[in-house]
Amino acid sequence: MPPTLSYTADAMAVPAPRARYDGATIALHWLTAFLIAALWGIGQTRFYVPAALRHDYLSLHMTLGLALGVLMIGRLIWRATAGRHLPPVEDRLMHFAATAMHAALYLLILGTVALGLTKVWAGGSEVFHLFAFPAFAPGNRALGHLLGGWHALAANAIMILAGLHAAAGIFHHLLLRDGVLRRMVPFLKD
Ligand code: HEM
Ligand code: HEM
Repeated sequence: MPPTLSYTADAMAVPAPRARYDGATIALHWLTAFLIAALWGIGQTRFYVPAALRHDYLSLHMTLGLALGVLMIGRLIWRATAGRHLPPVEDRLMHFAATAMHAALYLLILGTVALGLTKVWAGGSEVFHLFAFPAFAPGNRALGHLLGGWHALAANAIMILAGLHAAAGIFHHLLLRDGVLRRMVPFLKD
């Protein structure tokens, strides 16, 4: 079988067995997905854990959330510098839809982290009894409630968009069979 063409970051066409993202891009993608699932799960179940553990449970949420924020910034820097870019396999409209979805996910994730951080900053909170966020609006319960509501809304929007994004990936794999999912899941067979 003749080798397929793939493109490197400098946009040169080189013969390669099969196009796929570089290891760091793939690792950052799946770590992002794992952290989002864990954060959303902790957020939703925080009232089901025993009251004595709830503080540490929410501290874990805040720590993972901040780690995700750092990871997203690192991911954007990697993407803008050394990260591999692959050519679209779909037509222009579908490519535009996929790019818009990716941009919306990046924005929503950064927005959710910022809202979570601002909520904690507004009321002040301790993280694992090790570090305390100072409060810029202590006692303002209405502001805390508002920011918490927006935080929850943005987190739910991530889950909906990520669900549609994952469904599109599976659709590409099972029905279009164009190798798009395989670029992000290298061990997958066509
Ligand atoms: C993308 C990252 C994040 C996701 C997906 C996420 C998700 C969630 C979810 C689903 C809830 C439950 C909301 C509800 O149903 O009322 C929640 C609550 C909360 N999150 Fe996050 N979170 C993220 C990042 C952060 C960060 C970075 C912080 C702070 C440093 C944070 C602080 C909080 C706090 C304090 C609550 C409790 C809110 C309340 O009781 O009103 N979150 N989060
Ligand atoms: C919370 C979960 C997820 C988030 C936030 C997420 C986010 C993203 C983002 C932002 C990109 C664009 C990468 C870039 O160009 O910088 C991307 C690419 C991709 N994602 Fe996800 N993703 C998630 C879960 C999944 C799942 C579950 C699948 C598979 C079923 C998947 C399959 C893919 C594929 C195949 C690409 C590459 C698309 C292409 O080459 O055009 N993602 N993802």
